[in-house]
Order: sequence, then structure tokens, then C-alpha cells
Amino acid sequence: MTTLTQINQHGVLGIPSQKSCNGFIDSYHKSPIVTTREIYTHRSSNGHEAQLLETPVITGEAHLDSQSFQKALLASDQRVLDIRSKGSCPLDLHAKTLEGLSQPSGSKFLPSLLLWDNKGQGLYGDILETKHYYPYRVENELLEQQIHDIGKKVASTGCEVLLELGAGNMQKTTLLLNAIDAHGIQLTYYALDVDHAELESSLSGLEARTNLQNIKLRGLLGTYEDGANWLSTAQEVRNKRKTLVWLGNSIANFTPHEASELLGSFTKLQAGQSLPGFVLGIDGCQDKSMIECAYDTPGGQSRRWIKYILEAARNHLGPEAAELLDDDNWRVEGGWDAQNLRFENYLSAAIPIACTIGDTRISIKRGERVHILRSGKWSKSDVGSICAKQSLDIAEWWNGLEVDYV
Ligand SMILES: C[S@@+](CC[C@H](N)C(=O)[O-])C[C@H]1O[C@@H](n2cnc3c(N)ncnc32)[C@H](O)[C@@H]1O
Repeated sequence: MTTLTQINQHGVLGIPSQKSCNGFIDSYHKSPIVTTREIYTHRSSNGHEAQLLETPVITGEAHLDSQSFQKALLASDQRVLDIRSKGSCPLDLHAKTLEGLSQPSGSKFLPSLLLWDNKGQGLYGDILETKHYYPYRVENELLEQQIHDIGKKVASTGCEVLLELGAGNMQKTTLLLNAIDAHGIQLTYYALDVDHAELESSLSGLEARTNLQNIKLRGLLGTYEDGANWLSTAQEVRNKRKTLVWLGNSIANFTPHEASELLGSFTKLQAGQSLPGFVLGIDGCQDKSMIECAYDTPGGQSRRWIKYILEAARNHLGPEAAELLDDDNWRVEGGWDAQNLRFENYLSAAIPIACTIGDTRISIKRGERVHILRSGKWSKSDVGSICAKQSLDIAEWWNGLEVDYV
């Protein structure tokens, strides 16, 4: 069953729910970009070509102190703001990848954020196009069916800031913004995601598909954690009414405990700040064979995407990791975990591998599994319990029509 729900903080808004997606919380894509203006053409996974002329890019490994960085940001009139923290917290995917691979047997992981760079998004786009990947199709259908009611509810919160977490290709966003725009409320839409080129390209696509009269479009480059931090501290949204949107069942890429903590990080704003609504897309499908076909597509698209994590990790770790992360040394594995109601994706080692990267010794046994990502399938009561831990109530719950699997 597919549903959309709206959660309210003590009577705030709600959550939408559908069928699923993937991801983890980790850190950043290491981007070799500095404060400069770049000219490039980008072709996104959806085929949309965006010419980004004089796009100011301020990201990643910028060798700037924070004051210069802020000045550079202010000086540029960019559509995408880099909100990634530049402090001492776990910064780059190099460190996170090493951390994951050096865990004891049974606890190893690769940060799923590796999957969401430009190339990874393209491979994920191939999965979306298959008939087997019901989560994307079904959530779209649900939005189409219920969009007037959802748009009305979101507009009725009077929000001035609409922040979408993990906005992706923003196809669903088109429906939502058109519906809200019709109500005439003035707001700024912020799309948060982790790849700069994809953000620019998706925003351009969104702009081209819509003719919004009352909504401004912006992008935020950063992780969920960066988004939560930005939301509670950024001057430009201070004292504004904020509503959040998190579609694609991305919340269920976390365990229920992690998801609840993450929801809490978004809802605990500073005094005087207001969060009138939070709209979530949840996939409650419990049909094992449908889930298995969606997450292990018969055409091999999902396996190619999962395996791409090796290439992405090699890019971050460099030549020392070439053998460790050689495609031929790993097999894609995964399956439905009936006890925890989630699909889990792993890579398992085809041979024993040992190597040293920097100061870190990594040793992997034949058959040992490295966790990549998960997708939970939660019921309304699961979602209710997760929200209740953060004093959030479910205000609305939109169910999609049951769809036949083709
Ligand atoms: C499954 S897709 C969903 C895209 C879109 N919301 C939809 O429903 O079609 C997940 C999106 O979340 C983004 N993402 C994954 N992990 C993230 C993180 N830790 N912080 C911010 N965005 C993240 C990915 O880049 C991707 O665009």
C-alpha cells in the first residue's frame, strides 16, 4: 500500500507516504571545486541539458577560511548555496569509506552517499525507468491523485520556506509546487541534495517545466545534517514559517531510531522559529516478490548501481584501493529482511583481500558482506511511533490507490 502522510508538530502538518528509495546519512562528496566561476554544460540523467554559464561554485575542499568563504558566498548571486559544514566533523567520504571498510567482520559498510554523485544519479535514473521499480511510479501516481488536497494543506500552513530533503530529479516537486502556487502564497522553495551539477540541472528542469508566479527556487548543497543545521541557523530563513518535504521513502533508508533522531534534528528549531509542517513519502509495501523485483531489477539496473559504489569509493581512496575495490572481487547480494521489514543491499567479497591504505589496515574474508544501503517498509503505526518520539503527530495520511504490478 502506498501512502502520503502529513505530520504536525503538536498539531502541525504531516507526511505523505508511498513505496521506496535508498540512502544513508554520511558525509560529503569530495569536490575539487574552489570559489570560482565555472562554465560547463551538464547532461543530467533525465536527458535535460543545462548550460550553466558563470555558475559560481563554492564547495568541498575550498582552501578558504570561513570568513572568506562567507564573503565569497555573499558576493555571488548563485542559485545553489553550499551549506556543507567546513568544520572538524566527519567531513569527507575518504575518511568515512575507510572507517566503513575497517570495521570488524559483520559490521563493515560503504557510505551510501557514494552512490549519489552525478554518475550514480544517472545509474539510479536507469532503475526509475524500469517497470519493476514500483516505488517511484507509485508515489508519482499518488501525488497525481491527491495533489490538490496536498497542495491545499501545505499552502494552508502559510509557509514562507519550503525545504525539500534529497530533492533528486524534482519531477514530483513539479506537481507539488504547481499545486501550491495556485493558492497564491509567496514562498521560497529550497531543494537540498548532495551533488552540485545534479542540483543545478534539476532546478533548471523544474524551472522549465513550471511557470511559478509566487515561488522562488533555490538549491542547497549539503547533507541532511547540513540542512538541519542551516534551517535552524541561517539568517535568510530566520523567523520564517517553514515546511519540509521528504519524498521517495528516503526516511526509511535509516533505521527507525536513526530516522526519529533525524526528524528531531529538523524539528528542534531555535526559539521563535516555526515549523508548521513536514510532508513525508512512505512506502508501506509488504509484497516480498514485488519488493525483490524492484530492488534487484531483472534487467540488472539495480546491481549496476550498487556495484558503482566500488568505482566511487576507488575515486575517493585512490590507487592504493585499486585491488581492494576491484569490481571482479565483489558480488552484489541483497534480500528482504522479514523480521525488520526492510530490503538490505550488500556487496560480498569473492576472494579474501588485505591491504593498507594510508595508516589503515583493511582485511576482508572471502564471503564477507559489506553493507551498502537499506529500504524500510513501514506501516502507519510504525511512522506514528517514529514521529511521536519527536512530539510529531500525523495530521493527514493520503493512501494511494492499490496498483497492479505489471
Ligand atoms: C531515492 S532519491 C529520492 C529523490 C526524490 N526525492 C524522489 O522522491 O524522487 C534520494 C535522494 O536523496 C539524496 N540523498 C541521499 N542521501 C543524502 C544525504 N545524506 N543528504 C542529502 N541528500 C541525500 C540523493 O542524492 C537522492 O537525490
